[in-house]
Amino acid sequence: MEAPEPGFGSDGREAARAADARDPLASFAHRFDVSGTYMDGNSLGPLSEDSEAVLDRVVEEWRDHAVEGWTEGDPDWFRYGERLGAKVSPLVGARESEVAVCGSTTVNIHTLVGTFYDEVNSSAGGSAGDANSVSGAATADDPGSILVNDLDFPTDHYAIRAQLRQRGLDPDDHLTVVESRDGQTIARDDVERALREEDVDLLFFPAVLYRSGQLFDIAALTDLAHEHGALAGFDLAHSVGVVPHDLHDAGVDFAVWCHYKYLNAGPGAVAGLYCHEDHFGIRPALGTVPVLAAAPLDGALDVTREAGIDAIRAKSVALTDYLVALVDRLPDAFAVGSPRDPERRGGHVAVEHPEAYRLTQALKDRDVVVDFRPPNVIRVAPAPLYTGFEDVFDVAETLRALHESGAHEEYEPRSGGVT
Ligand SMILES: Cc1ncc(COP(=O)(O)O)c(C=O)c1O
Repeated sequence: MEAPEPGFGSDGREAARAADARDPLASFAHRFDVSGTYMDGNSLGPLSEDSEAVLDRVVEEWRDHAVEGWTEGDPDWFRYGERLGAKVSPLVGARESEVAVCGSTTVNIHTLVGTFYDEVNSSAGGSAGDANSVSGAATADDPGSILVNDLDFPTDHYAIRAQLRQRGLDPDDHLTVVESRDGQTIARDDVERALREEDVDLLFFPAVLYRSGQLFDIAALTDLAHEHGALAGFDLAHSVGVVPHDLHDAGVDFAVWCHYKYLNAGPGAVAGLYCHEDHFGIRPALGTVPVLAAAPLDGALDVTREAGIDAIRAKSVALTDYLVALVDRLPDAFAVGSPRDPERRGGHVAVEHPEAYRLTQALKDRDVVVDFRPPNVIRVAPAPLYTGFEDVFDVAETLRALHESGAHEEYEPRSGGVT
């Protein structure tokens, strides 16, 4: 899909409208309850009529059947988690049996990082070259480290540090953090150097960085980790539903994600996890699926499946290309804080400005919902299922007008002095 010619004024708007008229996914927007310009789907996706219908149905089944809902629900609640796991699996490129819908992202990080770290440290064997053998260099007496990066979502580090502390290990010694050179991205060479120089048992990386939107090459990182005797796990929170994945064929050992961002399954929706089938012997046991928290996901997945993840990604690339090109045409105070190469960019764009906080508040009062990330990032997520090119035009045009009028200066600066 081609991005429209970037530009402001009536010609710019016309070009955006013409691109919307050519968009094969344009009709999906009607299924979502979105008012104004909603660009915060990378924090919380909006409600769709499909999710609402399934949630209403489950509430009725609860009223009508009570405990019998486990067998009488349509579909029955008993296999709800497995059924949804099977439905999510194509989005992450996994076999049906490798995916479970359960817990939250944080709980799943605790579970899988803890499980795999223990597994590496309890097995001294494993055959070199077998991508999924647990052949880390560490032994029970000599635990290695977990490799992360300094632009990770903080929760991931809190969870991993807690897992290390629970094992009596000092996180400062057992968490190896790859530093960013530019504050926006992580260089592959730096990951490779850390794997070469440190005794790493597990690499745990995001697919897409939550602030800059850098998209990592999961297959390449997995190969790199395996070559250095480490396992590879990923957090797909900012990619699932907007970037296709191929976890099984890439030999990824484990992964976690949430369903409430690009998959629009609602606040606190049940999360997901993947475990490569080669590790099934160490799969942790799973309990009752929270059916009410899972029901909206059922409907939301129907919308995504109908649209098709490849078409979603193609539109996402066109929307973010267009946004990057428009930001380039804004005054110099604005800068693109995301990779320009679409192959290295997820579904959102970091727009940098020294007054990002005030601009975010001013945008909200003008019905443009985005989010602010300290110290200077306006995160803009044009989610393809309900966002058009004219919406992207509106965001950039509103930023341009705010900058010109200075209207955002009427807003209180962020406490602590960062605007
Ligand atoms: C990358 C990443 N990891 C972990 C989390 C934590 O998710 P939860 O609070 O749902 O467990 C989030 C939440 O936004 C996230 O973006």
